[in-house]
Amino acid sequence: MDVAGIRMDNPLMVCSGVLGISAGLFSRIEAAHAGAVVTKSISLVPNKGYDNPTVTGVASGVINAMGLPNPGVDAFIEELGRSEVSMPIVVSIYGNDEGEFAELARRLSPHCSALELNLSCPHAGGLLAIGQDPNLVERVVRAAKEASNVPVLAKLTPNVADITKIGLAAQEGGADAICAINTVKAMAIDIYQKHPILSNIGGGLSGPAIKPIGVRAVWDLAGAIDIPIIGIGGIASWEDVVEYLYAGASAVQMGTALGMYDIDHITRIKDELDIFCASTELDYEGLCGIVRKRYP
Ligand code: SIN
Repeated sequence: MDVAGIRMDNPLMVCSGVLGISAGLFSRIEAAHAGAVVTKSISLVPNKGYDNPTVTGVASGVINAMGLPNPGVDAFIEELGRSEVSMPIVVSIYGNDEGEFAELARRLSPHCSALELNLSCPHAGGLLAIGQDPNLVERVVRAAKEASNVPVLAKLTPNVADITKIGLAAQEGGADAICAINTVKAMAIDIYQKHPILSNIGGGLSGPAIKPIGVRAVWDLAGAIDIPIIGIGGIASWEDVVEYLYAGASAVQMGTALGMYDIDHITRIKDELDIFCASTELDYEGLCGIVRKRYP
């Protein structure tokens, strides 16, 4: 299948931030039959991220604030050179402004199948400010698009009043697809120690709790934009995948579920999705938007 110019065997992608950081992990993800992997978000210079604790479990999900740790663009290009997979690698990038996004896009696009712009980390002040402002989103997407020759995906935050305005801005800037959603702003407090659990205080909620928020975002975006949508948020089963595809997604990304189970959970979901497709006599593309199209 082809989603925004990315050729994938199936619609199951691994989302940014969970596993996609080394050539060895890319191989394990490919062996688990993922359609594509999105890497950890990469910046121009190395970033060590926040101090621990950076992750905590809550009912129906996980709150994280890692602080975008990554080895920086130079080291990551070397790592991409060690990769032996044929599965598409989508490199997630983040910068402080459109110039940094453009520089990252220029440096990384020769080494990957597509770029995903992280416009949505809920606790990196600059990124959230970009991702909540349609004008900035349009400018950043345009700058990255002009600097690269691979598809550019814009990953949007749900932490806005109307995600369709941001989606339209990304489309106007030339995005080839929208990824929705990133995590939802959240926090947890240790009532015995009387302090926030995460070192950063606030973080982003992922996992089953946010699936209905993601499905709604995809549904709304599908009614507003013309470019493909990649659905993200709380996907842990083949039924979750079908729900996102029915809402209008062309593919999906999974993250938290791979931590709750294991990498081979991708294989289990793919096998079950294939059985469902065979029972409906539809291919993956045939499932896209089935319910959404009934509600124009
Ligand atoms: C993090 O590294 O803290 C999470 C990144 C993100 O949510 O985009």
